[in-house]
Amino acid sequence: MKIDIQKNIQPKAKPTDHGALGFGKILTDHMLLIDYTREQGWHDARIVPYGPLSLDPATCCLHYGQLIFEGLKAYKTTDGKTVMFRPDQNVKRLNASAKRMCIPAIDEGDLLGAIARLVKVEEGWIPDSPGTSLYIRPFILGTEQFLGVHPSETYTLCVILSPSGPYYKEGLAPVRIYVEDSYVRAVAGGTGTVKCAGNYAASLASQKESQAKGYSQVLWLDGIERRYIEEVGAMNIFFVIDGQVVTPALTGTILPGVTRKSVLEMLSSWGVPTSERKITIQEIADAHKSGVLDEVFGTGTAAVISPVGELRWGDLSMEIGGGKIGALSQKLYDNLTGIQTGKLADPFGWVYEVVG
Ligand code: COI
Repeated sequence: MKIDIQKNIQPKAKPTDHGALGFGKILTDHMLLIDYTREQGWHDARIVPYGPLSLDPATCCLHYGQLIFEGLKAYKTTDGKTVMFRPDQNVKRLNASAKRMCIPAIDEGDLLGAIARLVKVEEGWIPDSPGTSLYIRPFILGTEQFLGVHPSETYTLCVILSPSGPYYKEGLAPVRIYVEDSYVRAVAGGTGTVKCAGNYAASLASQKESQAKGYSQVLWLDGIERRYIEEVGAMNIFFVIDGQVVTPALTGTILPGVTRKSVLEMLSSWGVPTSERKITIQEIADAHKSGVLDEVFGTGTAAVISPVGELRWGDLSMEIGGGKIGALSQKLYDNLTGIQTGKLADPFGWVYEVVG
């Protein structure tokens, strides 16, 4: 795919205090745009100065939410290379989301190449302090202008970049999670398994209420019986019960996380027993009561490996690991970030080098 590049002649000052980056607050100098029409397919890929998108008020995504997104990261390795972590997985998942939301698929090789091009243009923005990276946010919006309800005939794909630190203000310190027993996130046949904007809009009331109670995020239960554990707002969830690692199975309501998949692959390469299955919140409460809930941690591109120090379910407060990061969570974090930043060898072939 041919990509035109229009350089920003007014570049911004790059952040120097990497400890103060936060997550997704600073945006770089350029963005990638690719348009879609039925006649031309995905076309006119261009890297342009970062700036506002101009949308007619009748643009359909503003009314009916035909909007999907992804999240992946680029790193500067210890030997100065620019790399992305498993970008093929994100591009593939973007197309899976597109299918569910009636958005036309994009050639995965073309998109991967275009994202790599943008990252190369912006590689000077990649922070290299521990725990930082360049967060990559691709998204697609329906751009046709109409007020009836039907799939858009035109789309824009946009990719923006943000030098970022940890997703949670706690960093690698354990977070407090509230088990949501009133709102639900997804039901089978819905959109829970794809990354569409509406899933996150629908989660905000619950997140706001749990944060007012002092919790970072909520743990969702299934939408029918409200018994089975699904995922946390911005991450998948893992439990270490009596030495065995369990995580909810992908039953059609949970996001198939790239970090989730990587953790399962890494654990099996170490010979650690893992199981993807249905888990009830009662089982977790019972494990906690009998002292075998060894560790709980979340996984996500933004969240990386995020230890959970407390799970609150109704009146029951379950403290996990004495508020400290567990040994397995720490080992996973060290190995994953070690591979991502080139400090450790990559036996899995996950790292994609961005070349000229
Ligand atoms: C990610 O981990 O990349 C996400 O998209 C989660 C969140 C920031 C919405």
